Amino acid sequence: MNIKVIRGDITAQKVDAIIVNLFEGVQQPGGGTGAVDQALGGGISQLIASGEIKGKINEVTIVHTLGRIPSPRVAVAGLGKQTEFTPDRARQVAAVAARAVRKAGAKTAATITHGAGIAGMEPEAAAQALAEGTILGLYRFRKYLTKKENDNDIEEFSVVERDEEKASAIERGVNAGHIMADSANVARDLVNEPSNYMTPTRLAEVAVDIAGCWLLEVQVMEREEMEKLGMGGILAVAKGSAEPPKFIVMSYKGDPSSVKTLGLVGKGLTFDSGGISIKPSEHMEEMKGDMAGAASVIAAMNAIAQLRLKVNVTALVGATENMPSGTAQKPGDILKTMSGKTVEVVNTDAEGRLTLADVLTYARKLGLSPVIDVATLTGACHIALGDVCTGAFGNNQDIMNKLIEAGEQAGECVWQMPMMEEYKQQNKSDIADIKNSGGRYGGAITAAQFLAEFVEDTPWVHLDIAGTFMRDKERGYLVKGATGVPVRTLVNAARGLAAS
Ligand code: BES
Ligand code: MN
Ligand code: ZN
Repeated sequence: MNIKVIRGDITAQKVDAIIVNLFEGVQQPGGGTGAVDQALGGGISQLIASGEIKGKINEVTIVHTLGRIPSPRVAVAGLGKQTEFTPDRARQVAAVAARAVRKAGAKTAATITHGAGIAGMEPEAAAQALAEGTILGLYRFRKYLTKKENDNDIEEFSVVERDEEKASAIERGVNAGHIMADSANVARDLVNEPSNYMTPTRLAEVAVDIAGCWLLEVQVMEREEMEKLGMGGILAVAKGSAEPPKFIVMSYKGDPSSVKTLGLVGKGLTFDSGGISIKPSEHMEEMKGDMAGAASVIAAMNAIAQLRLKVNVTALVGATENMPSGTAQKPGDILKTMSGKTVEVVNTDAEGRLTLADVLTYARKLGLSPVIDVATLTGACHIALGDVCTGAFGNNQDIMNKLIEAGEQAGECVWQMPMMEEYKQQNKSDIADIKNSGGRYGGAITAAQFLAEFVEDTPWVHLDIAGTFMRDKERGYLVKGATGVPVRTLVNAARGLAAS
């Protein structure tokens, strides 16, 4: 979809549908909505008076214009109560409205910016929210459908602004939102791809392609190199699979004057069957998305480089499958990680932490700081926080606060979880330095405590996205399937670090 900013009047646009908005309770709309209402001879205000248009959040009413303005349809999108309006609602409204006009058959659409009027959002922020919501909300993964129903796609989408002073801010916002949302959609595509296609090899190829687009440094290590580095954690997980593991390193240098480099680490299990501690078959297909952490850091690099943020960032991904086979690791095995620490593998399904142990050690070796890791690590985190908030665990409150703030800006809730020393007891092994499962209780925390052993004193935050990386129903700009969480949070965090 092409998205552009037009200086002009929304009523004068000749597209398949124009989009305007309305706060709940407003009887006489102003701004762009008011202009369209006037051009329609009060058609919108009449529908408000009769109660057909209420302005409730997520309400979209399609009004036919019957030749009174050049566009045949107007979609009036409800903004909800003005007192309850948030920037995230601007994204939501954009998504719901864009889907409604697509459903009505529109191939071209034009919209006003939601939230920049009486709601008082800065035009740039409102425009970014608009572009993000629209692009995220229209996302579909239809690559493997040979018969596409509802085939219509919006090809041209225009943001219309009459006020010349606001227009350049809106252009900046639309551009940033476009990059953010496209990048989140890159992550969604990677996660939605089935594991027979999205293998560690393919994931590495995608990272190399993205690096090529933005002139990032990229390196893909093979099994032999990982062996030389002593990466006994990821290699033990990879043992059971016929697919070769890959270790991906992508580097962006946006601030050559600084010696600091932010580390983004992603869990890259292209399929997690559980291994010999095999998972129940129900919902096992969701484990094709166990590389969502990897997808999000690769996609974040795509955005960070495109936005030319003044910050150095290195992304690290350990990619492998976790499969049961005659060559697979077995419960009770003891392995030696790159850090030198030994691990008793009491459950081969706790494989994410085994791979991350080595990747985090490698991050330390590179001197990356701070380090943010993103992982679909534990079902326990999904149980604790549902599909709304990502669990956050760390050893540095300053970095934690920055991530929470970055999440707020993105409309992606990041919720801090406790990290008391006491939880570490559960990871104690009698015969190795640590074991890879602390049992059911507090499972998300004990998993984070396991990772903490390999981070040591590096300022670090771990994001457990097991509950938020995909969803089973649509919500606003989040569609069914992969969500692209927390790509936009990571980009905001990188921007925050660039500023500080
Ligand atoms: N990839 C899973 C966690 C997961 C579950 C992510 C559901 C997304 C949705 C992880 O590798 C895993 O299997 N974790 C185990 C840990 C346990 C064996 C200690 C879990 O959560 O059950
Ligand atoms: Mn697992
Ligand atoms: Zn896993």
